[in-house]
Amino acid sequence: MRGVTRVGLGTKWPRMAILPIVCIPDPILRETSTPVETFDAELKTLIADMFETMYAAPGIGLAAVQVGVPKRLLVIDLQEEEDAEGKPVKDPRVFINPEVLEESDSFVPYKEGCLSIPDQYADVMRPDRIKARWQDAEGDWHEGEIEGLLAVCLQHEIDHLNGVLFIDHLSRLKREMLLKKLAKGRKDGTITM
Ligand code: NI
Repeated sequence: MRGVTRVGLGTKWPRMAILPIVCIPDPILRETSTPVETFDAELKTLIADMFETMYAAPGIGLAAVQVGVPKRLLVIDLQEEEDAEGKPVKDPRVFINPEVLEESDSFVPYKEGCLSIPDQYADVMRPDRIKARWQDAEGDWHEGEIEGLLAVCLQHEIDHLNGVLFIDHLSRLKREMLLKKLAKGRKDGTITM
């Protein structure tokens, strides 16, 4: 979606690192993240590191709590477009202290996965359009109507800030099946996180 904050990568923020991603059942994933209050160089370093971590995973969204920092901050890059050589075009977006202001009455299913729940996917129903507001890395507020995959991803990541995981939206039976598959994968070594 246009009009959403874009963050320049690489040039402004030279020090970048891939951070370890926290996976279930780490209890930090159930914490409610606290608001970001200081918009300083340290925050920009964290944002840059989160993008590096997300691209390396690879994923399309990452909340700060997933790298062990329970602050209300998340990054998204859907990378939906490709350049002439077929490589995904980077489209990084950062959302700080995001809030959903309105939700559509209509819901759509989307097959979601999560870097904190390795290799597991399931259909989740969410409102297909939301109105949200958020701050950028400078602390400036933005508001916009968001739809499609960006709306799905933003809602998934905002859930993380409230200690909610996509598996919480599934029926108990589906959730237990998914967790069993994860446990089996970890046991037989096909899932190493
Ligand atoms: Ni997730």
